[in-house]
Amino acid sequence: MSNVSHIAVIGAGTMGSGIALTSALAGKKCTLIDVQAPQLENARSYHEKQLSKLVAKEKLTSEEASHAQSLLDYTTEMSDASSADWAIEAATENVEVKKKLFQLMRDAFGEDVVLATNTSSISISDLASAVEGAEQRVIGMHFFNPVPVMKLVEVIKGANTSEATTNATVELSEGLGKIPVPANDFAGFVSNRVLMPMINEAFHAWDDGVADPEAIDSIMKLGCAFPMGPLRLADYIGLDVCRDIMMVMYNGLNENPKYLPNQKLVDLVEAGKLGDKSGSGVYDYKKE
Ligand code: 3HC
Repeated sequence: MSNVSHIAVIGAGTMGSGIALTSALAGKKCTLIDVQAPQLENARSYHEKQLSKLVAKEKLTSEEASHAQSLLDYTTEMSDASSADWAIEAATENVEVKKKLFQLMRDAFGEDVVLATNTSSISISDLASAVEGAEQRVIGMHFFNPVPVMKLVEVIKGANTSEATTNATVELSEGLGKIPVPANDFAGFVSNRVLMPMINEAFHAWDDGVADPEAIDSIMKLGCAFPMGPLRLADYIGLDVCRDIMMVMYNGLNENPKYLPNQKLVDLVEAGKLGDKSGSGVYDYKKE
């Protein structure tokens, strides 16, 4: 399991693209897989843009940037990555979608390939139950957005994850320049158990008229040293993702009503206002 050289990343959204870029910058070959070709094109543009920025900032030579780009492959077919020695699922936060993908991953990759998931909140043991016989190779490897910048990988073992899988995950995370920190397999783990109720509370504060979004965000930035205010961060993460994580915690933590998503958050999602990725959310990002 050690000396990983080829990573398959399944899902070319924000997180998958970031994981792929981070892998290539660490010298790993990375195949990015998505059923939607336009997502792969977006990922490729993101990679080209970020690598050019690193060259412009003299953090990489143009040869190093070209080498990183040459390590990245983009495909709609999982079978194109059958030689991968590690797999990270970074698809949409839906338990049924992820379970189906795990079955495809088990069948596509070699028998000792670790099947990691970048789920932000779903139970690792539950996902592992979809791949009978391979449960010991399933583990949570939770990255943070933007992946090339954020240092953490939250590492979550399922009930049957082997020690060898856990040790290899710690080793790979460090090899990608990250700091792995363990958390137990409860809905939302640590990061989202703490972060999402805070974001949700910011929506309640807005909804109750405590302050407008700009003031809420300024207060938390200036008074609590957050790099982004909670509502700006919600747009950055994706309002649909925030709502979905709250629902996973509501369902997974005894239907405690404190985890129900705020109605304003739900309304924005239902209106298609998902944050940065859709051009508007709490704030409007459309160019004049
Ligand atoms: N990809 C790669 N690099 C990026 C990037 C991206 N998408 N966005 C920013 N960067 C880099 C910039 O190039 C810059 O690099 P440099 O220091 O080498 O020049 C550096 O990050 C800082 O960027 P900027 O100067 O453009 O802007 P800021 O200083 O305002 O930082 C930020 C931007 C890093 C996004 C900062 O605002 C921040 O840390 N925000 C909070 C992010 C956060 O909380 N993330 C966690 C979300 S929760 C999550 O992901 C879990 C999930 O389960 C929900």
